Amino acid sequence: PVLILLGPPGAGKGTQARMLEEEFGLVQLSTGDLLRAAVAQGTEAGKKARAVMEAGELVSDEIVIAILRDRLAEPDCARGVILDGFPRTTVQAQALDALLAERDQRIDAAVSLEVDDAAMVTRISGRYTCAACGEGYHDAFKQPATAGTCDKCGGTEMTRRADDKAETVASRLEAYHAQTAPLIGYYDKTGALARIDAMGAIDDIAAELGAIVKRVT
Ligand code: AP5
Ligand code: ZN
Repeated sequence: PVLILLGPPGAGKGTQARMLEEEFGLVQLSTGDLLRAAVAQGTEAGKKARAVMEAGELVSDEIVIAILRDRLAEPDCARGVILDGFPRTTVQAQALDALLAERDQRIDAAVSLEVDDAAMVTRISGRYTCAACGEGYHDAFKQPATAGTCDKCGGTEMTRRADDKAETVASRLEAYHAQTAPLIGYYDKTGALARIDAMGAIDDIAAELGAIVKRVT
């Protein structure tokens, strides 16, 4: 299946996508992760994206669509994908429809994770990640069993994202409301839309999403 997770920064798209990946063997496609990898590798796209990401604005459709197209063409994606953070503009949504049509696929569900903005700043500013395996943690909501040691891989190096400063989070929320929120209407019209209250506990949200995946597979 092809599943889209829509929602503002901090809504839990990455957290839920990784859980669905483990439970259902789907592939998480995060354009944020792909862009951060391009920045770290210093590719042409990465060089262009770096300053835009640090300002909390959206990277150009052209760059993001090219990155997504290449990743989607890799063989593991045939198992089914969870799109995390893509599409983020109407142009990207139309490009995705075309890419999937070429592959004889379609969007099975577009899930909007609904949250309130104020809570998102807290969620994002407490977030950190295992440098070795990418598992996500939170100062208040999701600590590893042993402080400073990753539950998944035992790694002891934790990192925080460059764009997780409070002022950048405000720009990211603004970009979401101006450019991405209209996609909720876009998918409502196609009948693919589902809404989930994403203010609750991580496991409850995961259960609701799991039910949607089971319904479409
Ligand atoms: P991206 O990497 O996609 O970031 P984002 O959308 O801002 O989303 P986040 O990763 O911040 O949040 P999330 O929803 O994944 O939440 P998470 O699960 O981590 O994009 C970064 C940048 O890249 C963009 O600003 C843009 O510049 C560029 N970009 C990416 N895609 C693009 C595109 N398509 N077009 C153009 N530009 C693009 O959760 C957050 C924290 O909360 C974690 O610590 C987690 O443990 C905790 N948490 C999660 N769920 C809960 C819960 N239910 N209760 C309590 N805590 C929770
Ligand atoms: Zn780890």
